Amino acid sequence: MKNPSEQKAIEKGKDWMKRSKNITHDFKHVENVSEHAFKVFESLKEQGWKVEDEVDENLILLSVWWHDSFKALKGDKRGVDELVEGLKSSKIAKEELEDFVEKERLEKILYAIKMHNNIPYFILAGKRMPLLLRILVEADAVDGRDPERKRRGTKQKRSFFHRVGESILDPVFTILRRVYIRSEYAKMKIKELEKQRNDKA
Ligand SMILES: [Fe+2]
Repeated sequence: MKNPSEQKAIEKGKDWMKRSKNITHDFKHVENVSEHAFKVFESLKEQGWKVEDEVDENLILLSVWWHDSFKALKGDKRGVDELVEGLKSSKIAKEELEDFVEKERLEKILYAIKMHNNIPYFILAGKRMPLLLRILVEADAVDGRDPERKRRGTKQKRSFFHRVGESILDPVFTILRRVYIRSEYAKMKIKELEKQRNDKA
């Protein structure tokens, strides 16, 4: 959708991510998420999900490019804020985007960003989860299994929460993904990337 003001906001998001201080939440990660997001969207449409007019290209791009703005800003120094990183990123996005994006559209974007790390909500909401949020979450989950990204991550200092998450909770997250991931594309892509990870291990 051509909207010069929103285009500027997307470019601002790209610039923000180019300056990321976080090795795994960098420009490449969001570029990948953006690519997966459109495939998730297509997949859900093919599966007959009700799409209506609630999601369009710019809404997807804006949610995607700003969803990790807090992690990009803070690098490794997130500490307990790791737990509320979605909320923190949505606050950054609000400040950065309110002059560029019309209020109602911005609210949809901010909601998707705020909730994108809220796994209990994904499980409880099921099909009632807003489509924009679902697209972001599933695309983000796909890149989360990318072996190349994992390799980049080994160079990064990990917070306590991250180390616990990786070593103990990883199998739990694998099970949870099976519950909340609904697009055939994300399911298939995650399986493919998991296989690559295991082959390399
Ligand atoms: Fe992400």
